[in-house]
Amino acid sequence: MAESMKGLKRTCRCAELSEANEGQEVTVMGWVQKQRNKGGIIFVDVRDRSGIIQVIFEEGEIDAEGFAKAEKLRSEFVVAVNGTVAKRSGAVNENLDTGAIELRAKEIRVLSESETPPFPIEADSKTKEELRLKYRFLDLRRPDLQENLMMRSRVTTLVRQFLTEEGFLEIETPMLTKSTPEGARDYLVPSRVHPGTFYALPQSPQLFKQLLMCSGYDRYFQIARCFRDEDLRADRQPEFTQIDMELSFVDEEDVIDVNERLLQKLFKEILDVEISLPIQRMTWQEAMDRFGSDKPDLRFGMELCDVSEIVKGCGFGVFTSALENGGSVRGLNAKGQGNMPRKKIDALVKFAKEYGAKGLAYLAVNEDGTYKSSFSKFMEEDEMAQLVSAMKAEAGDLLFFAADVNKVVYDVLGNLRLEIARNLDLLKKEEYKFVWVTEFPEFEYSEEQERYVAMHHPFTMPMEEDIPLLKTNPEKVRARAYDIVLNGTELGGGSIRIHQNDVQEAMFEALGFTKEKANEQFGFLLEAFKYGVPPHAGLAYGLDRLVMLMAKQDSIRDVIAFPKVKDASCLMTDAPNVVDGKQLEELCLEVSAAQEVTE
Ligand code: AMO
Ligand code: AMP
Repeated sequence: MAESMKGLKRTCRCAELSEANEGQEVTVMGWVQKQRNKGGIIFVDVRDRSGIIQVIFEEGEIDAEGFAKAEKLRSEFVVAVNGTVAKRSGAVNENLDTGAIELRAKEIRVLSESETPPFPIEADSKTKEELRLKYRFLDLRRPDLQENLMMRSRVTTLVRQFLTEEGFLEIETPMLTKSTPEGARDYLVPSRVHPGTFYALPQSPQLFKQLLMCSGYDRYFQIARCFRDEDLRADRQPEFTQIDMELSFVDEEDVIDVNERLLQKLFKEILDVEISLPIQRMTWQEAMDRFGSDKPDLRFGMELCDVSEIVKGCGFGVFTSALENGGSVRGLNAKGQGNMPRKKIDALVKFAKEYGAKGLAYLAVNEDGTYKSSFSKFMEEDEMAQLVSAMKAEAGDLLFFAADVNKVVYDVLGNLRLEIARNLDLLKKEEYKFVWVTEFPEFEYSEEQERYVAMHHPFTMPMEEDIPLLKTNPEKVRARAYDIVLNGTELGGGSIRIHQNDVQEAMFEALGFTKEKANEQFGFLLEAFKYGVPPHAGLAYGLDRLVMLMAKQDSIRDVIAFPKVKDASCLMTDAPNVVDGKQLEELCLEVSAAQEVTE
């Protein structure tokens, strides 16, 4: 039975009520959290997005029909209740914002009934994520998800407000477009009108925002949906949202300045956390050398130490052969962990191997100054002593060493550092450590494509003094690119763009693009650059990642209303799905027999 709300108007949300409203007549509407029938008196918790209010139905105060309705209430029924706010007759509930008051019902309407939900609607749900995602519309009723999405909305509102005040214009760019070069696979949309051709969904608004600079808009922003067909992780979804911006007539300092003030405002207004400015900066090389990562987590120390010089003449073949092959030997000191049981050390060795380590050497300094080590038998005593001293190790410390090419050593130790910190519970979610990482390499070598690819994108300006190296030594070219990193997560990234044709051409050449190929892919941008292009630069944040960290969540799925799972499917809608043969026909598409899905 569903009653009408005719004649009743909601006067406020449930948890907007407080002792200040005592004696007032109000009407709330929401979902039944739970109902307890104590004979002549029925307690019903009513919930909406603001929280919960306890409603009391007492015989005599409400008529018999109303009381009978209250008797039949079950979880998730939608009700409207009119009544009077009163001090709680029972004990104050400290766990509720409205714990000091109750609503004494005079009238109730059951606006809609509910089947028993497949899981309870409550905070800190123990229900498997899979089931929650299948019933996402119910999951989204839970207070923790509601808080996350409300925070997300506050973040975007503040971003709009701040950037607008700073002179940015909000401009939309197309969703049906041509491939943008951010390095992931595109999602394609077939064209019906031009059979055999495809739009690509944007991986970012990159090319369009640069065109807007060419068109004189000078400061642009957009809360932009982006699409990337890549392997999913906790901080990666196939569609995600960027806070995207581009500015004309600026350098790094201008972009960094406006963004530091934006972050400061967001953290102050939403979390009451002070970010002191300026935010620390670190070159990419320094980040790699000290933390083994281009997104260093600065909430704890345990920095990497290069011991290559010390071990270069030692008797341990694993170390010396890595050095002979142009690699390095680096270590990290897990302070005070010398008593780590063998089993845990073995687990860390196994962990290191997942990141490409051929092995992991370790050394514990015993209290009596002797060592427990996997490689001391290969080393002279004084070599060991030098190593221990270089690592500033004291009795009770545990050292790990990786020997390999630099890329592997950084990756292994960078991840090992984080794993040890996780095991020791050093990563506190309420601590926020920002850092700008600058001077990224312009290129990285792609084994798969057997060529250099742009680490950021092909429009990123090289550092002035490195421009001559584009032709001779591309791997040495540093980019005028910057990432903003928070607690080991890459929150956003951007760069100064190339606006000179000759530099852009040299860039394409280094990337192995012929003139024809560059024109075919980015002709419209290169064409625009012929007609007066301002120096420009920009940056984009992952909004989902920003809100995830602000809401202290582990996955961006928890701050996205309708996220996808690891295989990029949606458990609620069952997307992607097989489409009607007729739809395919219209698009002149055929699914090959080998891939046909049978339903
Ligand atoms: P970039 O590719 O670094 O730069 O992306 C910017 C930010 O977007 C977020 N992000 C993601 N978030 C969730 N899921 C994903 N799959 C995903 N991929 C990226 C990250 C990242 O830092 N056009 C340039 C920006 C510029 O140069 O102005 C760009 O897109 O937080
Ligand atoms: P092995 O001679 O292979 O038995 O290795 C002796 C010790 O060196 C073991 O503790 C290995 O785990 C370690 N080890 C092997 N390869 C490496 C490497 N690339 N870096 C650091 N330690 C290694």
